[in-house]
Amino acid sequence: MKTDSYKVLLEKVYANLAPSFAEDWPKLAATRAEGAYLYTEDGREYLDFTSGIGVTNLGHNHPHVLNAAIEQMKKFSHSAVGITLHEPMLRLTEVLPTVMPEGMNMFFFGNSGSEAVEGALKLARYVSGRPGLIAFRGGFHGRTYAAISVTSVKSKYRLHYEPFVPGIYFAEYANPYRCPVGDTAADAVAWSKRSLENVFNHLIQPSEVAAILVEPVQGEGGYIVPPVEFLNHLRQTCDEHGILLIFDEVQSGFGRTGQMFAAQTLNVRPDIMAVAKGIANGFPLGATVASRELMSEWKAGSHGTTFGGNPVACAAALAVQEVFEKEHILENCREIGKRLFTGMQKLQKAHDFIGEVRGLGLMLALEIIKPDGNKTPDGEKAFKILNHMLDNGLVAYMAGPTGNVIRLIPPLNITAQQADKALEIVEVSMKNM
Ligand SMILES: Cc1ncc(COP(=O)(O)O)c(C=O)c1O
Repeated sequence: MKTDSYKVLLEKVYANLAPSFAEDWPKLAATRAEGAYLYTEDGREYLDFTSGIGVTNLGHNHPHVLNAAIEQMKKFSHSAVGITLHEPMLRLTEVLPTVMPEGMNMFFFGNSGSEAVEGALKLARYVSGRPGLIAFRGGFHGRTYAAISVTSVKSKYRLHYEPFVPGIYFAEYANPYRCPVGDTAADAVAWSKRSLENVFNHLIQPSEVAAILVEPVQGEGGYIVPPVEFLNHLRQTCDEHGILLIFDEVQSGFGRTGQMFAAQTLNVRPDIMAVAKGIANGFPLGATVASRELMSEWKAGSHGTTFGGNPVACAAALAVQEVFEKEHILENCREIGKRLFTGMQKLQKAHDFIGEVRGLGLMLALEIIKPDGNKTPDGEKAFKILNHMLDNGLVAYMAGPTGNVIRLIPPLNITAQQADKALEIVEVSMKNM
């Protein structure tokens, strides 16, 4: 039987895929991936600086992770939690607390970031008995109903979905680069503090608020690193009013910022965390995490799942942790992160359309603007640059409300040579812009 090439197949069945899902960029006809590279049917090789949007943090098909998954598959690949309590998940609950922020030692496993966020919000309402939830403008938390209800990065994501989950209020994220009342970190923190006060003064009393949900580094919003005072203020506010602080570390977690979690990089303690993406290096797994004291209140039957905590994904997640330790992944992330950051700063000196270079570890971004003195976002130029980069063999992705931020999300075990090669490609792609 003659089989269609990948490309022909893609063209033929494209109409079968929901456009909401399939109309994205760059739709590479990948047939294979290994380490930091994606290989396409036409024989091309691409340095992958997306890592499947912060998922394959150890590179594609890391042999140790792959092997752990295969070995588990030979035993069994599914059994709903409760029908069995399988070993990979049990072992994972022993290993993860050793790398999580202090006190984060009880887990509910799901399959994705959205589910981890759903779990965090449900847990907060359940244990506090309060209805209110506060999230931040520019945040992204996923596509399921509660997750999209707390998401505000793009109104397009929310279009035609009203009414949302009720009881949700938005405050301003502290973004020093785009603060309307001044350019300093202090201005951004003051602006954000005021907006939270406004929520409390005008919309909902703190005593009615179950949780404040925040990405400690905003991901889809544009890889925005807030001043740490912003997060400290949230911590203090939560302590003062008995509100739970939820960190959505779906994108910033599992080594991305140079420590295992941004909570550790920025040294702020959450009460609940949502984690996913890099946890199992590509196998679908997510978790809602909290302290034993808090999560013990979530009584039997109040939340559940069929696929969550899948044994293959859990076996992969265990292997991920072994690789982090054996291959000194965090050290490499910090070292190569610095190297890339320095290179990006050099690029910024050469191009007035690079408004800001920012990030932590290997969660890095270049914000593209019109050099008009107003920091006008230039999504069109960012997209042109991304396309040039792709033509030159480097795949990266956009972020930010208008797509004007180029984010670099390489595997955390990338080599210095690969990082330099990527910088070279970015440089070439920015020439003649
Ligand atoms: C911070 C954050 N939270 C939640 C999600 C949703 O995760 P998922 O797509 O796995 O549902 C994402 C996805 O990009 C994310 O970046």
